[in-house]
Amino acid sequence: MAVEFSEAAKQEFAEILNHYPTKEAAMLPTLHLAKREFGQISPEVMTYISQLLDLHVTRVANVVSFYTLFPREPEGKYVIQVCSTLSCQLMGAETVVDHIKKKLAIDVGETTPDKKFTLKKVECLGSCGTAPVMQINDDYYEQLTVEKIDKILDSLE
Ligand code: FES
Repeated sequence: MAVEFSEAAKQEFAEILNHYPTKEAAMLPTLHLAKREFGQISPEVMTYISQLLDLHVTRVANVVSFYTLFPREPEGKYVIQVCSTLSCQLMGAETVVDHIKKKLAIDVGETTPDKKFTLKKVECLGSCGTAPVMQINDDYYEQLTVEKIDKILDSLE
């Protein structure tokens, strides 16, 4: 199925291009725009972006596969990213992941059937001193305990 930006997104894309010396240099902001617009960077979206930027689709696919920021499938309203790097691991990241998996009845990489939560394990979130850490959408939650996690997840509408 062919995808296309809305008129508003097309204007935003034109504005993005004004800020970069080449179309290729505008790839990351264009992918962010596409994520907002389509909720995912599916193969169809990658093809569309490659046409917009006059690039081979593999250039776009390489960038998309490098970042965890660009999901290839639709995600839940809340994307839970649990840090699984050393400091968080030592401070109980696996307990955090296991608790969330059990509470939401999903595995890592899955989305709840009501499309509310997606669970991911990610590399260092840059807050190692307050491990274990998770990020939900743009917010950080630190020094997590099972009780804290319950409170946080239960508070999300
Ligand atoms: S190791 Fe988890 S935030 Fe750095």
